Amino acid sequence: MTMTGASSLSIAQKAHAQAELEGLGGHTSAVLQRHVYIETMGCQMNVYDTERMQEALASAGYVPTSEVERADLAIVNTCSVRDKVEHKVTSLLGVWKKLKEFNPDLVLGMAGCVAQQEGQKLLDKLPHLDLVVGPDQIAQLPSLVEARRAQNQRQSATAFVHRREYTFPEPVPPSDGRVTSMVTVMKGCNKVCSFCIVPFTRGREVSKPAADVVREVQLLVDAGVREVTLLGQNVNSYGKDRDGEVDFAELIHQVAEIDGLERIRFTTSHPMDCTDALIEAFATCKKLMPFFHLPIQSGSPAVLAGMRRHHGVDDYLEKVDKLRRIAPHVALSTDLIVGFPGETLDDFEMTMQLLERVRYATLYSFMYSARPGTRAAELKDDVPLAEKKRRLQRLQAVQDALTAEWLAGFHGRAVEVLFEGPSRLHEAGPQSKLSQVRESRGLQVMGRTPENLKVNVAVDTPEQLAALTGRLGRVRIDLVGQNSLGGQLI
Ligand code: SAM
Ligand code: F3S
Repeated sequence: MTMTGASSLSIAQKAHAQAELEGLGGHTSAVLQRHVYIETMGCQMNVYDTERMQEALASAGYVPTSEVERADLAIVNTCSVRDKVEHKVTSLLGVWKKLKEFNPDLVLGMAGCVAQQEGQKLLDKLPHLDLVVGPDQIAQLPSLVEARRAQNQRQSATAFVHRREYTFPEPVPPSDGRVTSMVTVMKGCNKVCSFCIVPFTRGREVSKPAADVVREVQLLVDAGVREVTLLGQNVNSYGKDRDGEVDFAELIHQVAEIDGLERIRFTTSHPMDCTDALIEAFATCKKLMPFFHLPIQSGSPAVLAGMRRHHGVDDYLEKVDKLRRIAPHVALSTDLIVGFPGETLDDFEMTMQLLERVRYATLYSFMYSARPGTRAAELKDDVPLAEKKRRLQRLQAVQDALTAEWLAGFHGRAVEVLFEGPSRLHEAGPQSKLSQVRESRGLQVMGRTPENLKVNVAVDTPEQLAALTGRLGRVRIDLVGQNSLGGQLI
């Protein structure tokens, strides 16, 4: 869901549409369906929550729209993990406020982490904001909107539901022909790393019963899905809150039993909960894809202690080595933070050495930024911004070379690809060499390798594209871009 931009032109278009409708006799409410526009920021968890909001609202007659100008309800689903997003969100709502001039019934809402953190304070600060809803209250969204409309009272619902009372939303079979889908298997995080806001905005861990996960995946497979990504902030601690009746490795094996499901992925894991059984699953479970995102955050034991990660560098490396021994085909990725309070140059050099030692296929790297309310926010943010930038650039330059080397290894190889649908030609950037080559190849289908790399493959007809979608095929790679591949069907 991308922002289409509420420019003055689009507001004028909205006014024009309204005038046209009035010209038709003014029966707008009887003729029009209600539309919801959701602007999603942040991680996959927020993308998933957006889908749950759409499902909850569908039962109240709301149809998703990709144009905010058509919306009767517009929600910004916020993320505050790294950015100082408040300003961004406030200015977005300022733009949306203008739409109310043409549609006084328009309801403006805020969801996600900022909503959870700020709650009622947002309503006090932003008079045009109608409702605030936290992640645990998504099921209440239709009644909150209704209450806003019927009683003309602004609404805020941000209470955490106690883990014993928490219920996950009922799954709804997708009708959009998707080949891949996310499945939340747990919510919240009990780790409380000192830099991280997530435990404050998502609450304590609650695992979905294994039977419900299996039922949900079966429902998705029946609707045509061939690959699922099991989601959780700390996904591999799955089951601990349910006395470990089914742990995460066992959950993967249970999901893998489902006929018709081809691929399983998961994210995000914590090194402490990376059990031998999980590592072994990469060798024994054919459906578990060979890509493991295992955040370490820093290569310095002292920094890790300050981050309260409860693991060291050595025990992390032991797990990496074990994985490489029993499943050498698995590509690894990680998250790294530079400039954590007290990080010295020596600490940073240890992170650089870690890169050379592990040789990640790819990684996410961030400059530390204090999140209000976290333990680390009480420490002096003593690495100057310019130095954080310098460290980040150095780290990224080394990783770019390692990633390029990893990608180059795909050239000439035959890989198994799960095809997802038409390729978006300009994703590599309209001017890039890769785009030009791809454009010259005409109609293309997009799929992914087991390592989750995008591959674009030329096809002759739209019928061939449709026939490939949702299927596995062998592809010979003959084009390597910065983060995607091209190839020919074998
Ligand atoms: N649950 C995951 C984990 O165990 O790492 C993901 C947590 S967070 C949503 C995603 C990443 O954002 C973290 O792994 C960390 O690298 C980064 N991050 C979180 N808080 C940050 C902060 N205050 N400053 C910079 N980066 C941060
Ligand atoms: Fe955040 Fe650490 Fe949990 S990074 S999501 S507190 S594992």
